[in-house]
Amino acid sequence: MNDTKKYIFTSDRLGFRNWNLTDIDKMHEINSDEKVMDFFPSIPTKEQTTEFVERMKNQFEDKGFCYFAVDKLEDNEFIGFIGFSEQTYKADFTPCVDIGWRIKSSEWNKGFASEGAKKCLDYALNELKLENIYSIAPKINTKSEHIMTKIGMKKQYEFEHSLLTNNDRLKTCVLYKTEPK
Ligand SMILES: CC(C)(COP(=O)(O)OP(=O)(O)OC[C@H]1O[C@@H](n2cnc3c(N)ncnc32)[C@H](O)[C@@H]1OP(=O)(O)O)[C@@H](O)C(=O)NCCC(=O)NCCS
Repeated sequence: MNDTKKYIFTSDRLGFRNWNLTDIDKMHEINSDEKVMDFFPSIPTKEQTTEFVERMKNQFEDKGFCYFAVDKLEDNEFIGFIGFSEQTYKADFTPCVDIGWRIKSSEWNKGFASEGAKKCLDYALNELKLENIYSIAPKINTKSEHIMTKIGMKKQYEFEHSLLTNNDRLKTCVLYKTEPK
């Protein structure tokens, strides 16, 4: 069934929606994949994934955006998230709204992340009227940085992430930002 009405917006192949509590188990499965979590300091517990889904649902209800749950339109299968979140950790550019993505590894290399991120940026700039959107990734996460460049964001600088100071492998991060209109 291709039920596009349940989505806030769609791209060619993807639907973007608020979270359901039934997504928690599937998101936990994605978060438990070491390949997916290679550039994060730890693998989230089930409780942390539950807290994340609840926080995203609440943020959507308050602000109209979150890291949206993403389904493939061809079969309505949940494959991860792409979207926006508020960031408040200590940095020169915070508080800010960032764009981020996390996709099930069996769905990598099909162009879903960059297609979805491009559509999310269009939605944020044109519908949500968000002006400055940032994206952050550890410098060694080159796949993530590649998406930032493909969707037209511009590199600002590299910095040491205040939440990763004890992690020599991940602490150097890249900061990208949308271009002013
Ligand atoms: C980062 C991540 C989202 C990238 O996913 P992805 O599917 O590899 O990313 P893309 O959408 O850019 O697609 C990659 C490749 O798919 C290929 N592709 C296949 N079919 C395609 C299509 N129809 N359209 C576009 N690209 C297609 C392209 O060759 C593209 O690579 P290229 O731009 O170098 O040519 C994924 O690796 C992930 O979830 N990682 C774990 C979480 C993470 O690290 N998040 C970021 C934290 S900072």
